[in-house]
Amino acid sequence: MAQARPYYGDKGFSTAFYDRVTGLDARLAGDVEIYADLAPAGGAVLELGAGTGRVTFALAALGHRVTGIDLAPAMLAQAQAKRIGLAADVAARIELRLGDMTSVDLKRTFALVVCPYFTLAHVPAGAAWRNTFATAARHLDTGGLAAFHLPRMEIMRAPGPADPSQPVMAEPLPEGGKLLLFVRSRTFREAIGRLDQVIEYAVADATGTIRDRSAERLTYYMADPEPAAATAGLTLDRPPIDLGGVGDVWVFRKG
Ligand SMILES: C[S@@+](CC[C@H](N)C(=O)[O-])C[C@H]1O[C@@H](n2cnc3c(N)ncnc32)[C@H](O)[C@@H]1O
Repeated sequence: MAQARPYYGDKGFSTAFYDRVTGLDARLAGDVEIYADLAPAGGAVLELGAGTGRVTFALAALGHRVTGIDLAPAMLAQAQAKRIGLAADVAARIELRLGDMTSVDLKRTFALVVCPYFTLAHVPAGAAWRNTFATAARHLDTGGLAAFHLPRMEIMRAPGPADPSQPVMAEPLPEGGKLLLFVRSRTFREAIGRLDQVIEYAVADATGTIRDRSAERLTYYMADPEPAAATAGLTLDRPPIDLGGVGDVWVFRKG
C-alpha cells in the first residue's frame, strides 16, 4: 500500500467524499438538533472545524448567524461551493473562514460555540485541547455555551475489522461503480488515549475493478475534557448527551 496521506488534504478522498460518507453515518443522527436546542433564538454561533458546512448551513437555515472556521482549505472550498446554491437569506447569515481552532481570535463573541463530529479529538489532548477550550471561552458571551462532540473511550478501544481486506462500506456511486472503505490498520494506545487508523478509500468500476484509491491517516485523541475546559473557565453544564451510542456532546458554560 502506498504511503498514507493526511485526512482532509487537498487531493484526499476523505475530502472529496466527505459529504457522501458522513451522510451515511447514522451515529450522527440528531446532532444538529442538539446544537440547535442549545442556541438561543437568532443567537450567533461559532463552529470550530466547520468542514464542508454540514452543521453551519443547517443552523443558518434555522435562522442563526453562523461563523464556521476550518483548518483545511479543501474542506472550506467545498463549503463555499455549496453556499452558492443556498437561499440568499440563509447564505447571508453564513461566514466561512480559514483558521485553526487552537489559536484563532475573531475579536467577537457568540452565544454558542459548537465543535461537532469528533473535531476536538483530531488534536492532541494536552495543550491543543486547552488552547481550543481557550478559543471557545474567548469567543463566548458570559453565560454562553460550548458544545464538544467527543468519541467514547470504549469505541476508541474497539478492535478493527478482523479482515482488513474486506470493505467496511461499499456504496454505489451515482456515476456508476462503487465507493469502498477499508480500515487497513487501527491501533489504540491506552496510556495516551490515542487511536491511529489508516482508512483506504477506493473507487471501483461496474466490474468491481478498483480504478483509484487513497489511503489516509486519521488520528483521534480522547481524555476527560473537564480539566482542560476548566483551565479556560468553562464548567460542565449538564451530563454529556449521548449521540448514537458512540460519542457524547459535552456542554460547557462560561461563568
Ligand atoms: C469530522 S470533520 C467535521 C466537519 C463538520 N463540523 C461536520 O460536523 O460535518 C473535522 C473537521 O475539523 C477540521 N479540523 C481539524 N483540526 C482543526 C483545527 N485545529 N482547527 C480547525 N479545524 C480543524 C478538519 O479540517 C475537518 O474539516
